[in-house]
Order: sequence, then C-alpha cells, then structure tokens
Amino acid sequence: MTTKRIVIGVCGGIACYKVCDVVSLLYQKGFDVTVIMTAAAQKFVKPFTFQTLSHRKVYTDMFDEASYDPTHIYLADNADLFLVAPATADIIAKLAVGIADDLLTTCALALKAPLMLAPSMNDNMWNHPTVKANLATLGARGALVIAPDAGYLACDRVGTGRLPAPDAIVAAVEKMLGPGPGRALAQGK
Ligand SMILES: Cc1cc2nc3c(=O)[nH]c(=O)nc-3n(C[C@H](O)[C@H](O)[C@H](O)COP(=O)(O)O)c2cc1C
Repeated sequence: MTTKRIVIGVCGGIACYKVCDVVSLLYQKGFDVTVIMTAAAQKFVKPFTFQTLSHRKVYTDMFDEASYDPTHIYLADNADLFLVAPATADIIAKLAVGIADDLLTTCALALKAPLMLAPSMNDNMWNHPTVKANLATLGARGALVIAPDAGYLACDRVGTGRLPAPDAIVAAVEKMLGPGPGRALAQGK
C-alpha cells in the first residue's frame, strides 16, 4: 500500500490546539502528514509542536530561500489530500475568490488533489451570509466541508462553530483516502 500524503493547512483559529491531535492521530495511522501554518495560526500554536507530532518540517514561509523549488508547487503536487483545519472565515473567503497571498492559499490554488475544510468560528461568524456563500462556492467546486459541531464556544457561549473532535476529522479523512497503513511502533518497557 502506498503511503497517502496529507497536507494540513492550519489557520488562526482558537481550535488550532485540537489540530495537534488530528496530526498526531493521522501520523499514528501511518499517513504522511505535512503541516502548513498561516501567520495567525502561529499566534496560537508553535510550528515546533506540529513538527514534533508530524515528524516533518512545518512550512510557514512562501519565500523559503533554502528551497530551490517553489514550496507551494512542491507541496501541492505531492498531496493526496489538502485538509484545512481549523478553516477560518478569512481563509474560506480567500479560497473562494482565489486570493494567494501566503503559502497556504497559494498551495491551495496549485492543488489538483481534493480539498477538505473543517471550519471553526464564533456562531455569528458561522451564520454570516458571506461565510455561507463562500462555503457554497467552494462546495460547488468540489471541496468537502466537515460541518462544525454545536456546543460550547471559546467566546464563552453556546452555538454552532466548534471544530469537531479530532477523531471525527480523522474519520472523514479515512473515508476519503481509505484507512492508513498503520505504523510499527517500538515497544516501551
Ligand atoms: C483569540 C482569537 C480567536 C480567534 N478564533 C477564530 C476562529 O475560531 N475562527 C475564525 O475564523 N477566526 C478566528 N479568529 C480571527 C482570525 O485569527 C483572523 O481572522 C486571522 O486574520 C485569520 O488568519 P488566517 O486565516 O490567515 O489564519 C480569532 C482571533 C483571535 C484573536
């Protein structure tokens, strides 16, 4: 079985911390996981956390002078799936209109593989007609949207906008790509 490559675009939402678990679970299942972080995402979680959990370099910069190939094309060409989680209202808008002003959005535009979005935001943002219209645009182009859960939100209220549990996101990925091949682990004492 060939190892499936998943690029995870992490955006600047408070639910970033849950995506650490998503990355770890997918890695444990034997997927090859590469993380791209927006500048806002790095306000919430350090690249080092994702680097440790994915066992791969984390990409944050489109203008990587150490790389001879354009990073956004390399990552797009080698992805079997591009998962954006948490997908902010901002990134959803950018992807809907094709803005490409950072590594994540430029990579998404160069992508041939399926795009999966896990939106997460305040309930008023989630219910805003602009967000709905942008998601409808992306859905019409084939993007798969994992609907957010209802429940407690970090803005200290209850509503729809929670990022689903890491297990649910991993299940959506496996539904699309098939199960991971698993990973042989060293046994502790
Ligand atoms: C504490 C805090 C929490 C935030 N949480 C969210 C969120 O859950 N969802 C969202 O769409 N935006 C959220 N934002 C706003 C985004 O960080 C902001 O729109 C940012 O420009 C997103 O950039 P990005 O899409 O490039 O990552 C939050 C901002 C702050 C300060």
